Amino acid sequence: MLELKEVSFTIRKDGEEVPLVDRVSLLVPKGHFMAIVGPSGCGKTTLLKTIAGLNPESAGTLFWDARNLSQEGDFSPSEIGYVPQFSIAYDPLTVDESVEAATRLRVRCRNTEELDHRIDQVLEETGLSPISDRQVKVLSGGQKRRLGLAMELVSDPKLLLCDEVTSGLDPRSEREIVRLLHDLSRKDGRIVLSVTHSLAHLELYDSILVLHEGKVAFHGPPDQLTHYFSVTDTEEVYPRLATQPAERWHESWQKHRESYQRMVRKNRSRLIASGELHVPPEHAAVESGDSEKDRPDPDAPELPGFFSQFATLLSRRWRIFFRDRGQVFLQLAIILCFPILVTIFSDKASGNIRRYSDVRQTDIAAAIQEQQSVRGDQAKVGSAISGIIMFQVVLLSLMGSNNSAREIAGERPIYEKEKFGGLRPTAYLASKVAFLACLVIGQSLWMAFFVNFFGTFRGNFIEHAGFLLLVNASMTGICLAISSLMRTAEQASLLSIYLVGFQLPLSGAVLALPENIEAFTRPFISAYWAWSGSVEALQTQVHDAVKSVIDTSLSPQSACLYALGAHIAVALIAAWAGVRRPQWD
Ligand SMILES: Nc1ncnc2c1ncn2[C@@H]1O[C@H](COP(=O)(O)OP(=O)(O)O)[C@@H](O)[C@H]1O
Ligand SMILES: [Mg+2]
Repeated sequence: MLELKEVSFTIRKDGEEVPLVDRVSLLVPKGHFMAIVGPSGCGKTTLLKTIAGLNPESAGTLFWDARNLSQEGDFSPSEIGYVPQFSIAYDPLTVDESVEAATRLRVRCRNTEELDHRIDQVLEETGLSPISDRQVKVLSGGQKRRLGLAMELVSDPKLLLCDEVTSGLDPRSEREIVRLLHDLSRKDGRIVLSVTHSLAHLELYDSILVLHEGKVAFHGPPDQLTHYFSVTDTEEVYPRLATQPAERWHESWQKHRESYQRMVRKNRSRLIASGELHVPPEHAAVESGDSEKDRPDPDAPELPGFFSQFATLLSRRWRIFFRDRGQVFLQLAIILCFPILVTIFSDKASGNIRRYSDVRQTDIAAAIQEQQSVRGDQAKVGSAISGIIMFQVVLLSLMGSNNSAREIAGERPIYEKEKFGGLRPTAYLASKVAFLACLVIGQSLWMAFFVNFFGTFRGNFIEHAGFLLLVNASMTGICLAISSLMRTAEQASLLSIYLVGFQLPLSGAVLALPENIEAFTRPFISAYWAWSGSVEALQTQVHDAVKSVIDTSLSPQSACLYALGAHIAVALIAAWAGVRRPQWD
């Protein structure tokens, strides 16, 4: 039994308290199918989120059986299913894969038979079995809604909340979905609350709740709706609502409430007596008030462990990656073409650096001329080598931002939904780190080896490759953090691109910065540390050539290592904070 007592949800707007849900009281028994209707913007979604615990109620109390949700904590993830307005499935996956991933993330299965059984059962229940191998992107609107439902049903929730699952559908699909929801409420005493804007097929519901500006205007049997609002057709209810202020509707509802509630109860008894509605005995006991405090359901599925969720997410991520041809092509193009770009410039860097001692001249004028020419060579080779290292560093930074800027922000609503369903933020973040680490290692080492093949790195190659890897990892990490903190993928991409764009001018490798600015910016510029670390890895002679052309001071390799390590650590901590933070629209 779900009960709301005077529940409100208030926001502050221009210093004023604005109630979006206002003193809503209602009682929903087990096995009940209720519609929440009302004009657009009246607070239906907000009420649903308040029930789900996504909006903390500002006043009032919610009860689930005998449990006070306001005091004793929210629903456990398996008790509740919430089908939001947006799609919660990934387009490149098939129906079967989507349901499988949802099951693996939410339910601890003892073996594959149990897993398969659960998947088959929900596919059957939602009528998706015949199209289980179809990709989500080719599904019709109605099929997508069914999939959304199926993904929530995997944990067999006792309370199912649906937000506009019929909106935008053709009348036939709409009817089929409402019928499906009706049937789902007839199983194991499950409560189904369905938010809808549409006033069609209301006869299939056990009760209709009419919301108006966040307040209850009516809650009773569907056949009483037109009578209560003194209209001839349900379609006239909304225009009728607009004829008087919400507060007036609310007041008059308070007066009539009891008699309509009685009708709902009577209908229910009739359904139970006729055998049309089966409510498990323990639930009937709770309703009659003689059961002790409701204990957690012993049959409720347990959540899978960290590693299980991690493995599910990681394999799903790779699958999505390989299904998206565009992404694979872009990734391959970047990995192959960026090193080629660098090698085009590597010709000059392989030039010989002569020493003064190599030059033997008796004539002083010729000696000076020769020295100048040596210095010229040295400057040419030095600046070419420095430039090539910086070019590699910047390209790897760019790859880093391309790797992760959209990684979390692009799928935030789905992630929030999965987190609500019991996904651990640590497992989510770990799966992202593992996936990105593979890209980072592939990109950085290939860049280092490829460029080295066409013009040997004149120093310690391992150290150089290590710094390239670190700068890519640091940029990927920082952009992952940005992705987890920003509200949209567009914001995250833009910020990440700016961040890479500023690396080159602020690194000091091209132009030295004024000292006071440099001291302030340097700690944050990953490109500087990777460049400086790589320059320090050069052979003495080449190193001297580079030093002769740069105005910027170099840092010891250990400092570069610590700085990049610190960037990665800070990025991971920020990403962790970002994924923990709730971010529903
Ligand atoms: N977190 C929020 N902050 C400010 N306004 C909000 C918030 N959530 C919802 N609203 C506003 O509250 C009203 C009700 O929204 P909603 O519940 O989504 O309506 P419905 O689902 O009935 O169309 C809308 O005007 C919406 O803009
Ligand atoms: Mg809504």
